[in-house]
Amino acid sequence: MSVTAEQSETTRARVLEVRDLVVRFAGRGKGRRARAVRAVDGVSFDIEQGEILALVGESGCGKSTIALAVMRLLEPTSGRIISGGENLATLRGGALRQARRRIQMIFQDPFGSLNSRQTVFDTVAEPLVIHKLGATPEERRSMVMDALELAHLRPPERLAQSYPHELSGGQRQRVAIASAMVMRPELVIADEPVSMLDVSARAGILRLMMDLRDQLGTSYLFITHDLAVAWVVADRIAVVYLGRIVEIGPATRLVERPAHPYTAALLSVSSGDDVGPDGELIEALPGETPSASNVPEGCRFHPRCPRYIELGKPEQCRSVDPQLHVIRPRTTTNEDTSALSPHEAACHFSSEES
Ligand SMILES: Nc1ncnc2c1ncn2[C@@H]1O[C@H](COP(=O)(O)OP(=O)(O)OP(=O)(O)O)[C@@H](O)[C@H]1O
Ligand SMILES: [Mg+2]
Repeated sequence: MSVTAEQSETTRARVLEVRDLVVRFAGRGKGRRARAVRAVDGVSFDIEQGEILALVGESGCGKSTIALAVMRLLEPTSGRIISGGENLATLRGGALRQARRRIQMIFQDPFGSLNSRQTVFDTVAEPLVIHKLGATPEERRSMVMDALELAHLRPPERLAQSYPHELSGGQRQRVAIASAMVMRPELVIADEPVSMLDVSARAGILRLMMDLRDQLGTSYLFITHDLAVAWVVADRIAVVYLGRIVEIGPATRLVERPAHPYTAALLSVSSGDDVGPDGELIEALPGETPSASNVPEGCRFHPRCPRYIELGKPEQCRSVDPQLHVIRPRTTTNEDTSALSPHEAACHFSSEES
């Protein structure tokens, strides 16, 4: 699907609008020691039709919690999740089930997420059964075969009869993609879809997801701790730190000209050397690993911020919580539609471009 810049300004539909999403968990311990976990602490973003938005950040920053709240697999504390003109945050029962058809999710673990006793056919057919789609068995079968074909599981007739243990990690993730695509969702939420795969299988899965976007106009919320992966797949990147988006903008622009010091730190380690097994930054930043049950006052990043130190520890960073502000506004001159989006950062000392 190719969309011109002009069209995108006027006709490109928004498939998801998240506003001021907050998710808190009850803390462990009793009385005053039980601090609430502020897993998601006021997050807003949009995804347009055919767009891939990556959420990037360290382990524990709230990426999966955002995904699960959007799917309503856990209850948001507050905020709005608008899709198809409805607020998913408040839907219940049949209306919620109906809305869920539009959004499908792919998880990190292709070994744990598939039922080992089900054939590939039954796994991919399951969402159709749940949502009562496909009027006849033949119709259902052809929908499953199409989905296997879309996920490049070939030949589909043979693959349909296999069990997860007969498949490689990459093939299993293709089965997960097929069972998402069989619903022809507007939006796919993919939570670290390649991080458990062999390096050799990763590129194929990323390419498949991008091809499906081109072919069907599917949008993605793509979650990864690896900024390099985000840059490869995404049109736009949102960098998450302790439950907040601290920077968001067109992927290439954000990687080439990071405006937030946290993004700059992530970039300096995205070669992989300083990243721990769970994606935490080991060496690049000073200070303790952040905890969502103890979010710092003022700018939540200031205790680890190189810029804060460089600038002589300004009072503002310790006392005022910075909001996202525009670094470069939406542009209209560029051909690349995603590059039209504004670039925003939540740092008191990231200045607007003149
Ligand atoms: N059910 C829960 N109860 C209490 N705290 C939780 C729960 N789920 C997540 N958390 C906490 O919320 C914060 C965000 O967790 P989340 O799993 O969303 O992070 P993440 O960015 O997906 O991390 P990772 O990269 O490791 O997957 C963490 O501090 C986590 O410990
Ligand atoms: Mg996660």
